[in-house]
Amino acid sequence: MNERRIMQEKNKEGFVSDIVRNLPPSGIRKFFDLIARTSGVISLGVGEPDFITPEVIRAACRKALQEGRTKYTSNGGMPELRQAITCYLKRFDLNYEAENILVTVGVSEAVDLVLRAIVNPGDEILIAEPCYVSYVPSTKLAGGVPVIVPTSAEDEFKIKKKDLIARITPKSKAIIISYPNNPTGAIMERADLEEIAQVARKYNLLVISDEVYAELTYGTKHISIASLPGMQERTILLNGFSKAFAMTGWRLGFAAGPAEIIEAMLKIHQYTMLCAPSISQCAALAALQEGFPFIEEMVSSYDKRRQLMVHGLTELGLTCYRPRGAFYVFPSIKETGMSSEEFCEKLLFEEKVAVVPGNAFGQSGEGFVRCCYAAAQNEIEEALERIERFLRRLRRLPRTAIV
Ligand SMILES: Cc1ncc(COP(=O)(O)O)c(C=O)c1O
Repeated sequence: MNERRIMQEKNKEGFVSDIVRNLPPSGIRKFFDLIARTSGVISLGVGEPDFITPEVIRAACRKALQEGRTKYTSNGGMPELRQAITCYLKRFDLNYEAENILVTVGVSEAVDLVLRAIVNPGDEILIAEPCYVSYVPSTKLAGGVPVIVPTSAEDEFKIKKKDLIARITPKSKAIIISYPNNPTGAIMERADLEEIAQVARKYNLLVISDEVYAELTYGTKHISIASLPGMQERTILLNGFSKAFAMTGWRLGFAAGPAEIIEAMLKIHQYTMLCAPSISQCAALAALQEGFPFIEEMVSSYDKRRQLMVHGLTELGLTCYRPRGAFYVFPSIKETGMSSEEFCEKLLFEEKVAVVPGNAFGQSGEGFVRCCYAAAQNEIEEALERIERFLRRLRRLPRTAIV
């Protein structure tokens, strides 16, 4: 028996592939397990709307069930939904045909599909960080090499042209960006995006643009990088229903992009997923037809809570970039001298407030924590009081005693 087979005999973990064994567990999940074991916690941890899906959308699902629309749909998604998505994207000055759209099981599946569709072993994928937790592992699982492009609070967490160019090599294939951003709440304006678009055009890179928070902006309309000159043909835009329509559990998203790449993604999707859930697709169609007034209400409610949170954290003396999209605030906790994880664990154990360590979103998130303000106003107020108590105690301690 060779060495590997002996290892497998001894330890079932030996059967697990090297890539998977070497993937670290998600920093978010690790933290949520801790939260689940603690009672009386106010959670500003989970990144999902606190609203339930609007009634018109749920009603469309009930109707679909009554009508027995419970069968597989076409692999790429129901034609009427793909058509409705092309109409929706016109809001962002984008003109796609139904063949440019693939309906997926959330943006999560779309991230995995696009990477598997484009990556050859060793291809480099530039990833603006801090970022959503799945980009790096999905790149590795696809056989690619993640190349991190850090962003900073000083630059309002926008990806900078010079930082991008410094990391481009002949193996660079695509850039992943996501604005409005999780975890920072940053957005990129047209001029910021134009700089990135110039780089993509010059170095012939694809752009994977995760725009799942496109509807959640405060005072500024979202701009898609795909709408800039020469970009639609090199952008794979990912979006979905989870955040805008409060539909996280329905697992529905989509990709829009050049037909050849969508076709390649469809190939994988049809073997692995077959199609996105039929009744969720019926609900998503209703969301696009009747859901927009509800988005307005939800955004206005998030905006109030955003202001409460930013004001509260700033009053507590935490340096806080003012988020302009999504539903997260990303204050710096560097003054405490603790690492993000230490800060979050202590805050959880001592005051029962759950926030997420910034390093869960990559090394450039170290020194920050993510607070999600999609929580009830009274919970945010109570959480701020508890954080104040926590900081007051910390600040009284001599520096060396903090850690
Ligand atoms: C930036 C980003 N992309 C994708 C996702 C996952 O979205 P979905 O529920 O559509 O899979 C999330 C969820 O938090 C996210 O923050």
